[in-house]
Amino acid sequence: MHSTPEPNANLPPNDSIQTCLLRTRGVLTNAGVESPEHEAALLLQQVTGQSLTHLLCQLQRAPAATELAELERLLSRRLSREPLQYILGCATFYGRDFYVDSRVLIPRPETELLVEQFAGLFSGLSRNAEQLRVIDVGTGSGALAITLACESPELEIEATDTSREALQVAAANCVRHGVRERVRLVQGDLLSGFRRGFAAVVANLPYVPSGEFAELSPEVRVYEPKLALDGGPDGLREVRRVIDQAPEALVCNGWLLLEVGEGQSGPVETLMRQAGCWTDVKTVCDLAGVGRVVLGRHSGTDSQPSSL
Ligand SMILES: C[S@@+](CC[C@H](N)C(=O)[O-])C[C@H]1O[C@@H](n2cnc3c(N)ncnc32)[C@H](O)[C@@H]1O
Repeated sequence: MHSTPEPNANLPPNDSIQTCLLRTRGVLTNAGVESPEHEAALLLQQVTGQSLTHLLCQLQRAPAATELAELERLLSRRLSREPLQYILGCATFYGRDFYVDSRVLIPRPETELLVEQFAGLFSGLSRNAEQLRVIDVGTGSGALAITLACESPELEIEATDTSREALQVAAANCVRHGVRERVRLVQGDLLSGFRRGFAAVVANLPYVPSGEFAELSPEVRVYEPKLALDGGPDGLREVRRVIDQAPEALVCNGWLLLEVGEGQSGPVETLMRQAGCWTDVKTVCDLAGVGRVVLGRHSGTDSQPSSL
């Protein structure tokens, strides 16, 4: 005769927040998600509307039926490999939260290097409190343009994108971070329409070679906008074009800062050197040692109206 098993004192009571956390973590682990514990905690925070600290104080409470239903819904989206940031509607970049959904690329930590390099070049100038005009080409969620505006109050930024949908997201983020007055959103192809007067052009343009697109993770390949990723046969289609166009937009001695993919910094440096109008061309590596930002100074001509 079988007796009913005793409840295991080491396991949390059924249907507690703690059970939900453990179960969610287990499901994510089995699905091969990279950080199952972290993601489980974020999903539980999302459905309960609680911070992690509050959640940890409520581990023994029974979740509401609505919370359980919402958890199932979000978990099934994640199991279909939708990125967590789209599910939560939030991505963190340079310490700030940005609204994101499938209309925009999720801002990546490596792009923070562009912010740091920009700050290194312009921190001396900003002490003069003069207005500096900057263009962020291919702004997507606006993370880069908005971060620069938040970090440097003297900047006036034009943020461009071909995607009207992306600019809607960027507009929401400008409002969220209180920089609507200093970040002007412009729909257009790269730098077309911009003439002279800009101290810097920063760009994180699509740079995945078309042939490598199929190798991207489903999170990226299926859910993120192809327009934000596919850089043509060698990945440099848009980068090449912006190197051609930037001299028209920059003041003499103005800077071009480009994020590039692994193995692309050499070819991009060569493109800039061959153009004959860039000096101080160099590559800066990210924390993984990948050449990530290529930058150069426009050597300009005497006919240009202003210089740095
Ligand atoms: C790699 S995403 C970068 C988004 C954002 N700057 C970031 O770092 O998170 C590239 C962006 O460039 C935009 N884009 C692609 N081709 C473009 C073009 N020819 N002119 C302007 N924007 C373009 C895409 O719509 C996308 O938003």
